[in-house]
Amino acid sequence: MNILVTGCYGQLGRELHKLANCDGDHQWFFTDVDTLDITSPDAVERCFNEHHIGVCINCAAYTAVDLAEDEPETAARINALAPQLLAKTCLKHQALLIHVSTDYVFDGNGTMPYKESDPINPQSVYGSTKAEGERLIRETGCNYIIVRTAWLYSSSGKNFVKTMLRLAETHDEIHVVSDQRGCPTWAHDLAIALLSILNKKEDLPLQETFHFTNEGNITWYDFACAIMDLAGKNCKVNPITTDQYPAKAHRPAYSVLDLSKIKTYTGMEIPFWKDSLKKCIEEISKNV
Ligand SMILES: NC(=O)c1ccc[n+]([C@@H]2O[C@H](COP(=O)([O-])OP(=O)(O)OC[C@H]3O[C@@H](n4cnc5c(N)ncnc54)[C@H](OP(=O)(O)O)[C@@H]3O)[C@@H](O)[C@H]2O)c1
Repeated sequence: MNILVTGCYGQLGRELHKLANCDGDHQWFFTDVDTLDITSPDAVERCFNEHHIGVCINCAAYTAVDLAEDEPETAARINALAPQLLAKTCLKHQALLIHVSTDYVFDGNGTMPYKESDPINPQSVYGSTKAEGERLIRETGCNYIIVRTAWLYSSSGKNFVKTMLRLAETHDEIHVVSDQRGCPTWAHDLAIALLSILNKKEDLPLQETFHFTNEGNITWYDFACAIMDLAGKNCKVNPITTDQYPAKAHRPAYSVLDLSKIKTYTGMEIPFWKDSLKKCIEEISKNV
């Protein structure tokens, strides 16, 4: 099976690349905007034709949540129109599209973990464009699996874990919001989950949406405390409210995703957030 990965220089794409190096069962084609701009119909069609793509894993996205408020058209082109183009191309080539979406499609006013079937109500440009991407994919009628995830981090790229470690180098104390709850997710674990979906695709229902995060849920404040603790940093973390840390884009207060569907269908065991955070911090400290 020939597999196309888009956005391969991002957090998730890099983790998939590492895993694919140990996978002899498939032929992988890793691309990012310099080799395959997913907004370009000609480039996408050419790529599917030349490489006889059977599965496309779309890791490309516009992920700058605050900047998206000022750049809604760019965000929509990459997060909504490009996934539609990939979906139409998959339909034409009878390929499966595995697409990654976000907890930000929900409004965050809930109190119970969100199920895949719960109504969406995005509150930011980023969330709206990702929700529109999902809708446009479904509308094409192609075979797709959408995987919504949340609070992604890894040893590469820009993410909360790396920001906390950087701040710890220059600050004795920091302030972090304690009234937003979610599920941190190590990109490595998400990449393993996507591989598992890929390898079980014959047994999975297609045209379906799944949730995947690490197990457990915490606030950003809890997350920051755990990062400092596991990395042995002497930086005090103080809890603050969202009102005390104004950001351009609205963040959901409660964005815990229910994981029962993916566990039932794939039988996968999902690592607990703190175990994965420990492994990622060990990886980061080895790379320094
Ligand atoms: N990060 C999170 O906390 C989070 C949370 C929930 C869901 N997600 C979703 O998870 C997925 C993976 O996220 P991530 O954190 O790995 O993202 P990321 O690190 O921002 O990587 C996205 C990659 O896509 C590339 N890209 C942008 N426009 C492109 C285009 N037109 N054609 C091809 N590639 C393009 C980016 O290149 P440039 O860097 O040059 O733009 C980047 O290499 C995304 O769908 C995201 O929405 C992420």
